[in-house]
Formats: sequence, C-alpha cells, structure tokens
Amino acid sequence: MTMNEQLPQNLGLDLVRATESAALAAGRWMGLGKPDEADAAATEAMYQALNILEIDGHIVIGEDVKLGPHSLLDSGKSVGNGQGPKLDVVVDPIDGRKLLAEGRGGAIAVVGVAPRGSMWSPSPSIYMEKIVVARDTAVNLVPQCMTAPAAWTLALVARMKQKEVRDLTVFVLNRPRHYDLIEEIRMAGARVMLRSDGDVAGAIMAASPDGRIDILMGIGGVPEGVIAACAVKAMGGAMLGHLAPQSEEELLAVKAIGLDVQRVLTCNQLVSSNQIFFAATGITDGALLSGVRYRGRKAESHSLILRCETGTRRIIHAEHSIG
Ligand code: FBP
Repeated sequence: MTMNEQLPQNLGLDLVRATESAALAAGRWMGLGKPDEADAAATEAMYQALNILEIDGHIVIGEDVKLGPHSLLDSGKSVGNGQGPKLDVVVDPIDGRKLLAEGRGGAIAVVGVAPRGSMWSPSPSIYMEKIVVARDTAVNLVPQCMTAPAAWTLALVARMKQKEVRDLTVFVLNRPRHYDLIEEIRMAGARVMLRSDGDVAGAIMAASPDGRIDILMGIGGVPEGVIAACAVKAMGGAMLGHLAPQSEEELLAVKAIGLDVQRVLTCNQLVSSNQIFFAATGITDGALLSGVRYRGRKAESHSLILRCETGTRRIIHAEHSIG
C-alpha cells in the first residue's frame, strides 16, 4: 500500500477491540499496587487482539525506550496477521500505570495507526516537550510558541479563543522539571490543571473543541507524544513537539544518531498521513473517559474512536460478556 491508498473504513472499530481488551485486563489490577503486573496483563491482551487483525503492523516506538525491552509491543515488533495494509502502529496498553496501581482516575489504553512510514520514530529518545491546542487555536500555534515565554503563548491562545488569559486552563504534568513553567503560567494569570500522569489523555482534552482544557504544555514521553499526535491531528487540533532529553545519557544517545533536539515538529511532521485511526478506552474513571465496570460475567467500557480523514469522532459504550 502507498501512503495515498485508502485504509479500510472500519479499522477504527477493529482497533477499539484492542483497547477494550487491554482496558478489561488492566482494570482488574486497579489499586493493587502492581503497575508491572497490570502492564503485562494489558499488553498481552492488546497484543492478542491486534494480532488477529488483517494488518501488517509495525510498532514504530514503544515503552521500551524508557523501560527497556520488556514486551511483545516494543519498538520494531510486528502486529497483525501480516495480510492487510502495511501500517505504522503506536500503542500504550496503559497510559497512567501509576494512576491505575494507586486506584486513581485517568488511566487509558490507546492505539494509533497510519500508513507505513508516516509516523516519526526518534528511538532512542525518551522525552519530548509538547504543546497541544484545539482547532479553534490551531492556525496560531507557530513554532515560536515552543521557545517564547509561556505568557506570550497564553496571550495568543486567549486571543484566538476570545477569552482572557485568566479564563484559560492549562494541563501540565506535575513534575519538578515543570516547576518554572508552572510558575510562569501562574504569573501570566492562567489556571493550571496539574496531573500526576497521563499526558495522552491531557493532549486529547486539549485538542477537543469542548474547551475544558485550553492548552497542554510541558515535557512527557516520546511514544505518548506520537500517540497524542495521531489523536490531535484526527481532531483537527495542533501540536508542536521537540526532543527534550532529561539525562546526559539520553542526550548522548539522541545526538549519536544525529537527531536535532532544537528542531520543533508540527503535528504533520509527527504523523504525515491523513489516513490515521485512533482508539482509546478508559481503564479508571477520568475526565476524558469513564473506566471499566465489572458486574459478574459482564463488564462495561467507554471508548473513543477517531478517523482523521473524515473527522469522525465516535464514543462507544460497550457491554462485554466475560469469562
Ligand atoms: P506510563 O503510565 O506509560 O508509565 O506513562 C505515564 C506518563 O505520565 C505519560 O503520560 C507521560 O508522557 C510520561 O509518563 C511522563 O514520563 P515521566 O513519568 O518519566 O515523567
């Protein structure tokens, strides 16, 4: 398949089975304090569900960049039965492993796909700085926003949204590396939504036209950044990203393969094709999606499916029979 050929229009419905499977497996581990065991269960479930799909999938960048080789869904692995379209695939069976292990809200399972060769894969990079906004602000998200003071970017966003800066809500991961950024945002007068984990859900909410979050700012994982780019582009939002190594070792590894940490990429450079499908399922209750509910031999899940080409956004509430 070439980048211009059509992907099957029901691919999103196929993909959601993979995120549902991961969420149903992961949800059992809520609050048990075992993030690794939960991750293994979700990964196995997602892998099995992806493998029966008629796709020739290639994981472009996985959690192994941070955690080391650990699963069937690491960078470079194949998924699908090898028969269908050649795809780049990004997955996170649990975004928010700590949230899940501690029984807190906001953990989700996610998958994004696009034609082979269309996703950025800067392995072995671990961290990138991201800015995400919705489509009402998209045209104004210029690369300078990445280097300008936060107040400048927030003023731009407020103007586009016909709001005041003090009306804005900014999603930021609560990390020591963001203390200066958080201070800058507060000084500019905007409101901060600090979250301990889950910047994929944060990016989706920032790109969503409902306006609950106006912008996501800060440094998170690279795999999560590429996954987020799939969803943001499919929603018509805008995203900027550049590599932001957090250790000397990561910086050396990034430089060794000739990657430029200063280069600011747009959403179209993070995922070049319009043929993107994205699915997410809630694991624990969050602002984006409700979590999995179990009732004896039944379970309920809530998912989001996005198709970039048509701009379709489906919300699926499913009941499953479970063993
Ligand atoms: P995992 O649940 O996959 O570990 O990721 C959670 C997360 O908060 C991501 O949403 C975010 O991109 C990344 O971790 C940030 O990394 P770190 O926790 O190392 O700051």
